[in-house]
Amino acid sequence: MAFGIYLHVPFCSVRCGYCDFNTYTADELGGPDVIGASRATYIEAALAELSLVPERTVDTVFVGGGTPSQVPAGDLVRFLRAVDHRLGLAPGAEVTTEANPDSVSPQSLAELREGGFTRISFGMQSAVPHVLSVLERTHDPERVPQAVAWAREAGFEQVSLDLIYGTPTESMDDWRHSVESALAMEPNHISAYALIVEQGTAFARKVRRGEVVMPDDDETADKYLLADDLMAAAGLHWYELSNWARDEAAQCRHNIGYWNGGQWWGVGPGAHSFVGGERWWNVKHPAAYAQRLTAGESPRADGERPDADARHLEDVMLRIRLAEGIETALLGDADRLVDAGWLTPVGDRMVLTRTGRLMADRVVLEAVEALD
Ligand SMILES: C[S@@+](CC[C@H](N)C(=O)[O-])C[C@H]1O[C@@H](n2cnc3c(N)ncnc32)[C@H](O)[C@@H]1O
Ligand code: SF4
Repeated sequence: MAFGIYLHVPFCSVRCGYCDFNTYTADELGGPDVIGASRATYIEAALAELSLVPERTVDTVFVGGGTPSQVPAGDLVRFLRAVDHRLGLAPGAEVTTEANPDSVSPQSLAELREGGFTRISFGMQSAVPHVLSVLERTHDPERVPQAVAWAREAGFEQVSLDLIYGTPTESMDDWRHSVESALAMEPNHISAYALIVEQGTAFARKVRRGEVVMPDDDETADKYLLADDLMAAAGLHWYELSNWARDEAAQCRHNIGYWNGGQWWGVGPGAHSFVGGERWWNVKHPAAYAQRLTAGESPRADGERPDADARHLEDVMLRIRLAEGIETALLGDADRLVDAGWLTPVGDRMVLTRTGRLMADRVVLEAVEALD
């Protein structure tokens, strides 16, 4: 069974109004002298947690955030070396980092590639300035093709772009332009997520006050279909509801591990792990995280051992979203979902139809209810 290491980097230069990831700006952390607040020393704490991981060959490494490109590239490479040295990277291991297009340089990308990173995922979100401004993204759209070109020069063949659709003020033409701009860069992978209004964010407050208006579900569904058509025409095919890849080799193996019963250890503040049937999560704040490790303690906050029913439920919720579908035996009575045109049998599996993909949350809900 695949084993992955996730490293969470809890820093961003500014917080985007819509995002509720466990990440902090320098101001929020109270300056670089506070323990755990320094980007320059963060990797020491992460390395201390890595030393707690029992020996086991690693198939995939994923550095996410926050903004991994906020810590020196050399530190990410040190972390990767330590993974290889302590645990051992499997031959052909996939090693990804997320990056913000405006915090990379030709030098940092070259350092990552030479240091063993095989895949890079840029947070593009949109190619349209007024959409980026509603999202409070700081980058100029022109930075993305530049960052992709630098990544290629550095030797990255695996390049992914993240897009968001359904932002207030985004027209259908704006979205078409964003997808076409992303495809013009010839990435071998794209993730496209519908904008979620996360409670407690600045963006959610704007929605509540009526300062921005979220699009209706039909418009969001049309945007999903448009993206799917444009991507298919360009040779990128969905392998998970929100993820498209040029071929099987371009699929993100680390994320497939999350969806398909793999195990992983998440290093960093707030990171979740799932190993040996047990799930746990670390203390959320970088200062608390660093203090625990400095004191020689585990950063773990709490955990649980999901029982067979809970695991089954999770399997259904995650696997139904995969293009390869879910084993029919894992579903209860799926006739209703097939009759509704949302699932279709393919061999011994059930796969979402195109309509089913638009209703995925409802399909999951009904599939889960049918288990009882
Ligand atoms: C940790 S971020 C990626 C790296 C980097 N911090 C960035 O934003 O460019 C992971 C992705 O989550 C997605 N995301 C974050 N908040 C979201 C939300 N409220 N709705 C939809 N997608 C969201 C964005 O597409 C983002 O690229
Ligand atoms: S979307 Fe990315 S850059 Fe923006 S706050 Fe979230 S993690 Fe940071």
